[in-house]
Amino acid sequence: MTPKLNSLERDARVMRLYEQLLEIEQRLIPTGLHVFGSAAELQEKADLLRMVASFDRPEEGTRALPKLVAEALRIENYEELLHDPSSSETKEVVDAIVIEAVQKFCELGADAAAVWLNSRSGVAAETSLPTFRLLTTVSEQLDANAELDSLLSALRGEYIEPGPGADIVQNPMVLPTGRNTHAVNPYSVPTQLAFDRAKHTAAALLQRCLDEQGHYPRAMALVLWGLDNIKTQGDGVAQALWLLGVRPIRDALNRATDIEVIPLEELQRPRIDVVLTVSGIFRDLFAPTMTLLDKAVRCVATLAEPLEMNYVRRNVKEKMEAESWSFDDAVTRVFSNAPGNYGSNVNFMVMDSQWESEETLGDLFVTRKCFAYTRDSRGRTVEGREAPHLMNDALSRVEATYQNIDSFEIGITDVDHYFEYLGGVSRAVETNSKARPAIYLSDSLSPQVRIRSLEETVRLETRTKTLNPKWYEGMLKHGFRGVAEIENHVANTFGWSATTNAVDPWIYTEVSKTFLLDPVMFERLLELNPHSLRSLMKRLLEAHERGYWNPDEEILETLRERLDNLRQELEVTA
Ligand code: BEZ
Ligand code: MG
Repeated sequence: MTPKLNSLERDARVMRLYEQLLEIEQRLIPTGLHVFGSAAELQEKADLLRMVASFDRPEEGTRALPKLVAEALRIENYEELLHDPSSSETKEVVDAIVIEAVQKFCELGADAAAVWLNSRSGVAAETSLPTFRLLTTVSEQLDANAELDSLLSALRGEYIEPGPGADIVQNPMVLPTGRNTHAVNPYSVPTQLAFDRAKHTAAALLQRCLDEQGHYPRAMALVLWGLDNIKTQGDGVAQALWLLGVRPIRDALNRATDIEVIPLEELQRPRIDVVLTVSGIFRDLFAPTMTLLDKAVRCVATLAEPLEMNYVRRNVKEKMEAESWSFDDAVTRVFSNAPGNYGSNVNFMVMDSQWESEETLGDLFVTRKCFAYTRDSRGRTVEGREAPHLMNDALSRVEATYQNIDSFEIGITDVDHYFEYLGGVSRAVETNSKARPAIYLSDSLSPQVRIRSLEETVRLETRTKTLNPKWYEGMLKHGFRGVAEIENHVANTFGWSATTNAVDPWIYTEVSKTFLLDPVMFERLLELNPHSLRSLMKRLLEAHERGYWNPDEEILETLRERLDNLRQELEVTA
C-alpha cells in the first residue's frame, strides 16, 4: 500500500511532477532527419534561434536575451537561478518573454522585435538590437543552404571554403553549412569560456554524487570524445581538470600546455581521482591535451595534501605501498584504443546479439580501450601501451561514471556510441569494483546546468523522442528510413539495458503498444519498411528473453505471432 502523504509531501511531489513535465515540454528535439540541401522549417528555426539568443557572445558583441530581460526586470539573482536545476516562476516569466520576442522576430524582423521587447520588458532597443541582428544573420544563413552547390564543386575538384565545426547553438559561425569543416587548434583547448562553464557542471555533478551517495566518489570514469570537445572547445576536458582541482595555464605562444593547482582552500572539496576513457578520434585530434590530462593527474598525485582531501594521492599511495607498484603504473589514468584503432565494438556485439553475459561487454570494452597514453617519470612518451591490468585496477575504485552531451540533435538513444562508451565503461566498472557505479550525464545545451542520472536520461529521451508523436511522425515522413530510425532508437535503448540495466520495463511495453499492438500503426510500418519492423519485434523479444522486460503473456504472444507472419511473408517475397 502507498503510505499516506501529508499535504507538504504531496505539494512537493506535485511540484516535482510539474518540473518533470516542464523539462519534457521544453526539451528541444529534432523533428525529422536533416535532408541534404534543404533548409530548416520555420518552427524548428524559431526554437534554434531562441537557443542561439540564450547565450552571451562576447566575440560577437551580443548579450543573452534572457539576461537582458532579467536585468530590465531587476531580477537580482538570475545568474544563480540559471544554475539551479529546479524551475522557478521567475525563470518562466523571463522565458515566456524571450519566446514571444523571438516569435516577433520571425514574423517582423530585428527592429520590430527590439521595439516589442522594449515595450514588454523595458530592455533598451539598442541593447537588444545586436542580438536580433545576429539572429537575422543566422536566420538568413539557415535559409541559404549551400550544401548541394558545394558538393558539386567538390566533385569538380574545386575549392570549398572552410568553416568551423561545431553545433549551431554553441557557435553560429558554423553557418552556412556546406563548407569544408576544419577542426580546432588542440592547444587552445580548453578555452577560458569552456573552463568557466565546466566549473558549474563539475560542482553540480559532485553535489549530485554527494546527495545520492553521502560521500564524494573515490574515483570517477569519464568518457571524452573528439568531436564533442571540438564543438564545445573542451567542455569535457575542462570538467576533468575541475574534478582534479587544477586549471590550465598558457605558455608564451598562448598554448594550454601546463596546469596550475587550485588550492584546497579555494576548491573547498577533495580532489577526485579520474579515469579517462578517450575515443580514438580524441586521441588523434588532441595529442597535446592527452599529455595535459596525464600531467594534471601526475601533478595532483604528488601534492603534499591530506589523503582525505586528495583521492588521487590516496589511491596512488595505496597501490605503491600495499602492492609495490611503481609510481608510473599507479598513476596511469589516460586510456584509449591501440594506435590506429577506434571504437569499443561493444555496440557491434550488442547489435548482433553475439554475447552471453553482460560481463562479456565490459571485458570487451577493456580489451579495446586498455592502451595507456602517458609520459613516464623520465619524460619518455608512452603511446598506446597495452595495459589491461592498469585499467582494470583504475576502474575497480570507480564509484561514478560520466559523460557530457553537447548537442540536442544527437542524444543517448540516437546513436549506438553512447552505450558503447558510457555503457561499456560502466559495465567494466561493475565487473572490477563488484558494484554498479552511479551513471550520470550532463548537457551543455542550455545555459542551465543539468545533471541527470542515466535512468532519468533514458526516460527523458524515450518520452521526448521514441514515444513522442511529434518525433516519430517527423521520422515517418521519411518513409523507409524513418522506420529504420525508430528501430534504431529501440535498439540503442536496448543497448543501455545490456550494458547498464538502466531501462525501465514500461518503456518496452509502451514501445510495443505504440508501434506494434496498434493495428493502424503496425500496418503503416509494415508498408514502409517490413525489415526494420521485423528487427524491432526481434529486439523486443530479445529484451524479454534476456530478462529486461517481463510483460503480460498476451503482449508476447501477439509479438511472436506477428513476427512469425512477417517472417513467412518476407520469405515468400524474397
Ligand atoms: C568522437 O568524436 O570521438 C566520437 C565520434 C563518434 C563516436 C565515438 C566517438
Ligand atoms: Mg555509427
